[in-house]
Amino acid sequence: MLDPKSYIQEHKERLLNELFDLLKIASISADPAYNNEVTRGAQAVHDFLKAAGIDHTKIYETEGHPIVYGEKNIAPHLPTVLVYGHYDVQPPDPLDLWDSKPFEPVVKKTPLHPEGAIFARGACDDKGQMFMHIKAIEYLISTHQLPCNVKFMIEGEEEVGSNSLVHFVKTHRELLKNDVILISDTGMIANDTPSITTGLRGLSYVEVCVTGPNRDLHSGLYGGAVANPINILTKMIASLHDQDNHITIPGFYDKVAELSIEEREAMAKAPFNLEGYQKALDIAAVYGEKDYTTNERNSIRPTLDVNGIWGGYTGEGAKTVIPSKAYAKISMRLVPHQDWEEITQLFKNHFKSIAPKGVTVSVTPHHGGQGYVTPIDHIGYKAASEAYETTFGKTPIPQRSGGSIPIVALFEEVLNAKSVLMGFGLDSDAIHSPNEHFGVWNYLKGIETIPYFYKNFTAHYLRQ
Ligand code: BES
Ligand code: MN
Ligand code: MN
Repeated sequence: MLDPKSYIQEHKERLLNELFDLLKIASISADPAYNNEVTRGAQAVHDFLKAAGIDHTKIYETEGHPIVYGEKNIAPHLPTVLVYGHYDVQPPDPLDLWDSKPFEPVVKKTPLHPEGAIFARGACDDKGQMFMHIKAIEYLISTHQLPCNVKFMIEGEEEVGSNSLVHFVKTHRELLKNDVILISDTGMIANDTPSITTGLRGLSYVEVCVTGPNRDLHSGLYGGAVANPINILTKMIASLHDQDNHITIPGFYDKVAELSIEEREAMAKAPFNLEGYQKALDIAAVYGEKDYTTNERNSIRPTLDVNGIWGGYTGEGAKTVIPSKAYAKISMRLVPHQDWEEITQLFKNHFKSIAPKGVTVSVTPHHGGQGYVTPIDHIGYKAASEAYETTFGKTPIPQRSGGSIPIVALFEEVLNAKSVLMGFGLDSDAIHSPNEHFGVWNYLKGIETIPYFYKNFTAHYLRQ
């Protein structure tokens, strides 16, 4: 194989500048004020795919944000790889915590990225990682080395639940037919410790509202005599974990797949420095479910977390008031084989049942999805593992992630295809946070590694 390394060296400036152009587009899917930018994002991805030599490129309009599609067919007897990624990004706020502007990419050195990292919203999640695939294909096509068929499907609603993509996948089974799905939207352990993500957690996201009196009340005149929705809400939320940090919702753990001692021992072999972990977060201790390690708590165990809570007076100074309403947004990360719709229902029933008289409670589900596991004996996993061996000189460690990409389970269900998660980000890259970044080394290493996946996968496929 003509070495991707020399291609990358030769085109390095352009590979970076083109990504910067994409990062300058504020494709924030959650905020309708940015709809034009999201559309611009789709157009840019479309044009980059075309320029890379991908055929039949098309922007599919949806009820939400556009889906970008394209394919390159080599021969029908060869396997087809479907690349999935997203061009939408999380809102950048709080803006004042950024050291540079979120949509004006800059390269700065960091301790973990001595060769520099690209700072911008979406640099790692997922524009930078998705773009590695376009550039890897550009390399393979322009050097006449693409060994199989490839399809691209890049969406603009991942950060808000992929609603339009769910419909698109269900109604385009034939178009999306493939032998494996390839995704770079996760991370790895460290630059000298490559890993491949073998699992994603499921998700159930709900919003709750506790209503007390029909209007805000004077907290002196009424205080002590009526239920204060914020007091009640916080009490109810606190009761959702017991002293061992187990979740108290009846039936919540019923379907949780417990790992064998052997599997847990294998997991414990992955390098992890507790002190460094605590130091990086400025915390004196970790916290979580009894009898599980940090790496288990954030991957193979389900969780329940409040993501936001509001109500009453939060302005300047003091206002003496008992609010009429209190709200919270709550996410539950799920593991195989918990069903997100079932868990949402269990939450709803339980949360309503623990409300005292004097308040009413509503629970509104937002979105969700099932967890996912890639079997390490799948030829897609093997092809990826061998690719990392070639470019990192080390066998990557299989590792389950705590994050979620809900559409991946649907790919399996509807398209009957396994997904291989070749992530090149680091947990410390601050995705969804201020100062998100992606190592220049990681970006280029991704472009270098991906071509070997195609080569290896095609070889495995033809051999089986
Ligand atoms: N790329 C992330 C998910 C991720 C990141 C998985 C790192 C594993 C490692 C994705 O864009 C994301 O943020 N997913 C959301 C869920 C979605 C429904 C909003 C998440 O995990 O919170
Ligand atoms: Mn992502
Ligand atoms: Mn994300």
